[in-house]
Parts: sequence; structure tokens; C-alpha cells
Amino acid sequence: MQIPKFLSDKGFVPNVTINPALNYLGTETAFGFGAEVIKVENSGKFPQIYKFHVGDTGPTTPEPIINVAIEALKNKQTKYGHFLGYPQVRQNIATYWSQVRGVEIKPENILLEPAGKSAIELTLQTLIAPGDKIIVQDPGYPVYESLAEFYHHGQVLHWQAHKETNPSAIAQGKTLEFRVEDLEKLFSENQNIKLLVINTPQNPTGMMMPKETLEQVAELVKQHKFFVIFDDIYDQIVFGGRKHFSFLSIPGMLDWTVNLNGYSKNYAMTGWRLGFTVAPAWLIEIFGRLAINKWSNVNKMEQIVAGAIYGDVDLDGYHYKSVKDEVQKIINQDFVEYEKKGGFVSEALNLLKPYIVCNEAEGAFYLFPSFQRVLDLKYVKEDLGLKSDVDLRNWLLNERGVATLSGSDFGEMGRGYIRFSYAEDRERHIIPGMKHILKVVIELIEKSGEVPSIKVEEVDGKVGELVKKYFVDNLY
Ligand SMILES: Cc1ncc(COP(=O)(O)O)c(C=O)c1O
Repeated sequence: MQIPKFLSDKGFVPNVTINPALNYLGTETAFGFGAEVIKVENSGKFPQIYKFHVGDTGPTTPEPIINVAIEALKNKQTKYGHFLGYPQVRQNIATYWSQVRGVEIKPENILLEPAGKSAIELTLQTLIAPGDKIIVQDPGYPVYESLAEFYHHGQVLHWQAHKETNPSAIAQGKTLEFRVEDLEKLFSENQNIKLLVINTPQNPTGMMMPKETLEQVAELVKQHKFFVIFDDIYDQIVFGGRKHFSFLSIPGMLDWTVNLNGYSKNYAMTGWRLGFTVAPAWLIEIFGRLAINKWSNVNKMEQIVAGAIYGDVDLDGYHYKSVKDEVQKIINQDFVEYEKKGGFVSEALNLLKPYIVCNEAEGAFYLFPSFQRVLDLKYVKEDLGLKSDVDLRNWLLNERGVATLSGSDFGEMGRGYIRFSYAEDRERHIIPGMKHILKVVIELIEKSGEVPSIKVEEVDGKVGELVKKYFVDNLY
């Protein structure tokens, strides 16, 4: 029996045979690598680790949300709750979702669940029969591929992002693009495609999928009859006046969509494990049956919170007032801060073009710059012996105290890229961290006998100008 690598690496040898599909179960590197970062941090090797690896939110949960939770606990709302989510809670979510998506969503279309991620497994266990194919984005959020491979090994196809080569497009911050023509090709070459995963704004790139692309995908849905997992968990974190566009807003697509959303990112509630899914009522019925078998129900106190974020909740003789407006004001400020940091990091990294080529920050709190030219440097290849973005990520952490994630953790197309999260604190991590990483890369360029576009002595000044541009001149 082949033991999964994540066990054998730790020396575990099970004394019985185990599910061979575990060999195909991947991971979300952000969690494992986080432990590595803490190890290096605790070793005291560096005065500080600059953290660009986290998938967690910078801000903390808004106070009014915490107060609802405290009130619910004081009311002893601590027993089992409703397996689908209390009707009024689902009604509040449905009313809000109908408003923001411009299509009628009913409570029967809503499942309250332990965070957004739960919807991935429910969908893969419900919709995929033997021989069906699943398309995931590459690069993309790794849990899709991991669980799809675990449950349906060999049935996964990749919608690979097109690498932009046009210099004027690159100058405008477009480096990767998911093109419908590539998707059409997958449909022409494969039978039984049942499911397509779309995530926008996207982890790991921070890109948003344009309305026109989504409308073209909807045409393919009509033609080929497949479902879309539409993951818009970062839907409110969008920049530059862009508007998030939902697949549900396209007429008829509610019948073909599993919409993964929740409270983790927008409301800075990652640790609460609270989310919801919007889907056709027959699918919610199946998901509810699976929910009973898996987790019974979402924590009752959190069900009250989930409802109060969008409207009033009455339960067991207690009344919980809506916190919608106060909370929206607070999180809108969080989004302004994300936008500033995203613009700053993108521009700072592009100071070292063409060695680093970074896309424009469109949404979420990620950027996905290409470090291919850094990896191609003589000193990096020959003297340091770094062969991949994974090697570079490890070297940056262990030798220079900068934590990032490697692009290939998000798929084959991520090779040569590094994922930067800018969720962390601006003064402690983002600003000094950018200065530090630029100096590190300049050192690599110079040691290779090449000439960078800026010198080490210029970094503080150049970054200082960007600090003024993004953080000082336009205070909110
Ligand atoms: C694209 C995407 N989908 C889903 C999730 C999971 O969200 P949750 O923490 O609500 O399970 C994440 C978390 O990082 C994500 O980036």
C-alpha cells in the first residue's frame, strides 16, 4: 500500500490499509506554511518576519457583530440549531441576496453552513457521477483541485489562464486572463463536463472576471448543461470603482449555480467558520441531508449572528436587532484600506520591472506577480541553486525573513509566480516589507551582474513616494 506523502513525511505508518484516494488529497499551503513561518519567527534569526503569506483578513470582526454573539450566549442560545439555518435567518440572507444580485432568491435556495468551504465538498459529492468531469481554474484556490482529485481522481480538467505577452496590456496591469476560447476548447475535447469552478475576485491573483466573460460562460452552460460553482467569497472587496458581477444575475443561471459565499472575508470572520450557499432548492434539499450527516447544524449562536448581519432575528422569545447598517459602515472602511495597500504593493513591486511584473490589484487582498526573471538570474540559479518558485519562497523565508506563498501552490500555471497577500498591518508589514523585498531582489540582480532599474539607496525614497501617494495624500 502506498502511504500518502503527508503521512510518510512525518514517519507515520498506519497499521491497517487506508483509503487509497488519500494519495490525491492536496492541501492549502497557507495553513502548513504558516507553521513554518512561526518556526522561523520563534528562532529569532530575524528581528521581524514580513508577512505576505496570510489568507486571513487584516481587520478584526466588527464590534456590533461580536455584541450580537455575546447577547445570544447570555440568552443561553447554546443547544442544537436548525440543520439548514433558521427560516428567518435564511429569509434575511435571501432578501439581501435578492437585492444585491437583482434576481429573486428564496429561503429555500439558502443553506447556512460552517463557512464557505463546506459547499465545495457538498457539491462534489452531489453532482459528480463516475466519468463526469470537473473544470477548475489554474491558477486557482487549491482546495477545489484537492477535493476534486480526492473524490474523483482523474476527472479534473484545468482552465488555464492565458499569459499576457502584449507589452501595453502588461503595462496596464494585465498579466493573466481566463479566456472563454480556452474553455470552449475544453468542451470541444471532452465529454461529460458537469462542473466548472469560477472564483471572482480571485484567490490567488486578485483578478476579477469581467461581466462579458461570465455572460459567455452562461451561453456555454445553456449549450452543454453543466453547473458552475460560483465562489464570490471576496465579493465586497473590489477596487477602483469596479462592480462585482455575479453569475446569478444572468437570467436563468440560478438553476445552474452553486454560489459559495459567507462571512469570512467581507466581515473579517474567518475564525467563526460561518458561511452560506445559494443553489436551486432541490440541491439545497440534498445539501441539507448531507449536512445532517456531517455537522448537524451551524452553531446556534452563530445562526443568530448570520441573520442579524442582514436583518432582525427573533428566536426563543428573544429579539436581536439588525446590525446591517453599522456593520456595513465599518467594513467599507476596511475595504478602503485594502484598496490602498493593494495599489501600493502592486506599484512597489513594479519598481523592479521587468524582473518582477505585477498585475493590478482589482479585488480580494492578493497579488500574483511573476518572478520568472528573478528565477532566471544567474546568481539565483547557479549560486543559490533555486530552481522554482517553491525554492524561492523557502529561501525568502529562511534566508531573508519574508513570508510569501509560491505560485505553483495554486496550480501548474502559477509556476514562476509568487502570491503576495496584503492583508497584514500597513505599518508593521506592508510598507517596511516592501522596502525589504525590493532591496533583496536588487541584491540578487546585481550579484548576477545585471543592472536593476533602481539602486538599493533609492528604495526608501521611491517607496516613500508611494507611501505618500497611497496613504498620506488621500486620507479618508
Ligand atoms: C477563493 C476562496 N474560496 C473559499 C475560501 C474558504 O472560505 P471559508 O474560510 O469561509 O471556508 C477561501 C479562503 O481562503 C478562498 O480564498
